[in-house]
Amino acid sequence: MLRYMDPSAIRVIQAEHQALSAMLRSLLMLIDRSQRLRAPPPFDVMRAMLFYIDEFPERLHHPKESDLLFPKIRARRPDLASVFDALDEDHRCGEASARDLQHRLLAYELLGEPRREAFESAAKRYVEQYLRHMSLEESTVLPAARAALLPEDWHDLNVAFEANRDPLAGHDPSGEFAPLFRRIVDTAPAPVGLG
Ligand SMILES: [Fe+2]
Ligand SMILES: [Fe+2]
Repeated sequence: MLRYMDPSAIRVIQAEHQALSAMLRSLLMLIDRSQRLRAPPPFDVMRAMLFYIDEFPERLHHPKESDLLFPKIRARRPDLASVFDALDEDHRCGEASARDLQHRLLAYELLGEPRREAFESAAKRYVEQYLRHMSLEESTVLPAARAALLPEDWHDLNVAFEANRDPLAGHDPSGEFAPLFRRIVDTAPAPVGLG
């Protein structure tokens, strides 16, 4: 839940979670639609979506959680060690999982029907696992952070998280990523896009 007085680091984390869940849900909708119509999915937009997931959350969001936010809470909440161990492990495997899914998508695109099922089932597992991860952060980590961290902790975290420039979380797309962002929004189904 978004609270009015939350530090900006928490607001950035929640906005990025929302952007990422919208992207993941749109990916599943593209798969469902392709199954319903018995037609190939739009590979170009799916590639763009997986590239986005690999590029922004894996390189900006997760490292800041694991490197900056989690250690501060861990230090004050040893009872949550197993939760943080599990979340850190997800972060550690995140890039490899995103790459694996991109490879399975490419295999489906280039080799066709024999590789469809492997991609679709991996994509569903990936999305479920990712949504579970973010929901654990929201239900356990953010409340613990609100209760345990001090103003000086928040200062460092706010600076670090505000430096994220994720276009799907409401920032203007920077030059390099503007075409990718436009392509996803123009062609993906709701909730992320207009297509
Ligand atoms: Fe995370
Ligand atoms: Fe997160």
